[in-house]
Amino acid sequence: MRVVLGIESSCDETAAALVREDRVIIAQRIASQDEAHRPYGGVVPEIAARAHVERLAPLIAAVLADAGMELADVDAIAATAGPGLIGGVMVGLVSAKALAMASDKPLIAINHLEGHALSPRLADSALHYPYLLLLVSGGHCQLLEVRGLGNYKRLATTIDDALGEAFDKTAKILGLGYPGGPAVERLAASGNAKAVPLPRPLFGSPEPHFSFAGLKSAVLRAKQAGIHADADIAASFQQSAVACVIDRTRRALAAAGDVTALVVAGGVAANMAIRGALEPLAAEHGLPFSAPPLALCTDNAAMIAWVGIERLGQSDSFVADPFDFAPRPRWPLDPDAAPVRGAGVKA
Ligand code: KG4
Ligand code: ZN
Repeated sequence: MRVVLGIESSCDETAAALVREDRVIIAQRIASQDEAHRPYGGVVPEIAARAHVERLAPLIAAVLADAGMELADVDAIAATAGPGLIGGVMVGLVSAKALAMASDKPLIAINHLEGHALSPRLADSALHYPYLLLLVSGGHCQLLEVRGLGNYKRLATTIDDALGEAFDKTAKILGLGYPGGPAVERLAASGNAKAVPLPRPLFGSPEPHFSFAGLKSAVLRAKQAGIHADADIAASFQQSAVACVIDRTRRALAAAGDVTALVVAGGVAANMAIRGALEPLAAEHGLPFSAPPLALCTDNAAMIAWVGIERLGQSDSFVADPFDFAPRPRWPLDPDAAPVRGAGVKA
């Protein structure tokens, strides 16, 4: 059975994993940089790149040792080649090129977003194409029709902030530190979601796009007003965000072609309020709901290795990527998607 070594270094997690084609994660390690970035309230690209340089090689050696394997035993080396912070992406991709060259194995350059998009298939062998995917992370907020490997139709994106960004900014406003999503979710659990009236940007609008900037500003005003408990603000924020997500996803389900499942992936897919609201929405449409386990939601290398497995599985048409494959700071999953009116420069 094929085994792929996956490498992830596009943001603030340095990660390596060995994944087998029968969906077994043979070994994986993730070195989080949360501590290094915490004093700055967000990821500092230079600090991240340096940390990847220091950590990646020992991490790969450790993963191979955990599995009792050598480089000679793997079938390919897959690394995130974008989108993400360019310094980190370069570290991972150059390392993968060196290892592939030295061991005479194919290099597979992976789109980080494709890693998130297909991670539910690593976790769920019953999940088949095509499916509707809500991809929500710190940098992205999209609804995609996943039609097959390498075949993605973007139905919606955010015109301002990503959902994870909205969680992180809310955390900052409430003094909860970084990373913010899990902290906001924890605090929201003890708050009253009806206490603070907050807007639901784009709720009900015909196209399924997202907007969170207005919600974030309203959170700031609510905090500055000084009359609400932080837990109530967190709970009200989360409820508004979830309401927007469900409304937009419902809209996308109506616009999508025939799909076999509703799927959520990306770091924010770890949020239980979002999962809990998506499940009945799927049921309403007679669709199964699929979400990867929490460890596969946030950045990891197993999802990168898995895309490598899927690429190798194309057997006849598989082509390794060239050693001069350039890192791509921007790399949309659907290059044909039309720009959205009002949207900024984010990919
Ligand atoms: O996918 P990811 O690890 O990195 C990117 O590619 O962006 O996503 C990180 C994002 C951060 O914004 C983080 O705050 C958010 O996912 N996140 C959450 C939760 N866990 C992580 N947001 C809400 N609730 C959570 N439980
Ligand atoms: Zn990610």
